[in-house]
Amino acid sequence: MLGAKGQLGSELVRMLGAASAVPYEQVSITDAEAVDALIASRKPEVVFNCAAYNAVDRAESEPDEAFAVNAQGPFLVAVACRRQGATLVHFSTNFVFDGTHDQPYVEADEPSPLSVYGKSKLEGERRVLEAGPRVLIVRTAALFGGPLSFPHRILDRARSGQRLPVVSDQHVNPTFARDLAAAAVELVEQGMAGIVHAVSEGCTGWDDFARAVLAESGVGVEVESVPSSAYPSAARRPLNGCLASTRYRALRPWRQAVRDWANRA
Ligand SMILES: NC(=O)c1ccc[n+]([C@@H]2O[C@H](COP(=O)([O-])OP(=O)(O)OC[C@H]3O[C@@H](n4cnc5c(N)ncnc54)[C@H](OP(=O)(O)O)[C@@H]3O)[C@@H](O)[C@H]2O)c1
Repeated sequence: MLGAKGQLGSELVRMLGAASAVPYEQVSITDAEAVDALIASRKPEVVFNCAAYNAVDRAESEPDEAFAVNAQGPFLVAVACRRQGATLVHFSTNFVFDGTHDQPYVEADEPSPLSVYGKSKLEGERRVLEAGPRVLIVRTAALFGGPLSFPHRILDRARSGQRLPVVSDQHVNPTFARDLAAAAVELVEQGMAGIVHAVSEGCTGWDDFARAVLAESGVGVEVESVPSSAYPSAARRPLNGCLASTRYRALRPWRQAVRDWANRA
């Protein structure tokens, strides 16, 4: 598993064991020789690529870095997998869509990314699909669970007494990395290929996501709902960032996942 120390990678390592882990410091997915040597020596049946450049705003001024990790790197991994006959499981994002639909996006909807990050992830999808037949691309949204993810940031701000203005007009399916890891393994077991959406059931504004995090954590701090325009950012984000699937079940409802996250060991 590549990118093993990220929030999704860590959950997959929890499920599949430490021996599956290949962190960034061991192999960069942009290093063709290292990727080839790794896959040739380990001869895995399945490779999970959890490595990504996820700094959505920074990508606007670092497009080369974003495309190297999100498009070229996955292509190199896909080519190495093809040589070994391994299945590649790669992850992508709701940010490949522009958010103008009034319904959650399904797999057949046409991508039209608004940001460099979204464009680099879409290019990654295209390049891995081009590279080999044994490819599964799992698109997800608003992943949480890692120590730097949204719930932790909200709790830190609440506990340090800061005000909590949170955007209300961008909607997403908050998806627990632990649930996505289990879903990815299940999808491989089902022999799924091509593009599939895997997200929590239900969609919500970031403000209500923050309220759920605080309520489930027993922190009585008010969240102030604000429009995106109150937070000018380098990258444009889809207002409707909600996904649904015509190919796979929804994961458990996002609110249940937040409760489980708050009560985690
Ligand atoms: N986070 C979200 O809200 C979200 C939403 C939709 C889709 N996704 C997608 O879901 C997948 C998993 O995301 P995540 O949140 O688990 O990401 P993450 O926590 O940012 O983890 C990504 C990992 O990749 C590593 N990495 C960066 N460049 C690398 C390289 N060249 N070679 C190898 N490893 C490299 C990072 O290391 P460093 O930390 O040391 O850089 C980090 O450990 C990604 O494909 C992401 O695009 C995420």
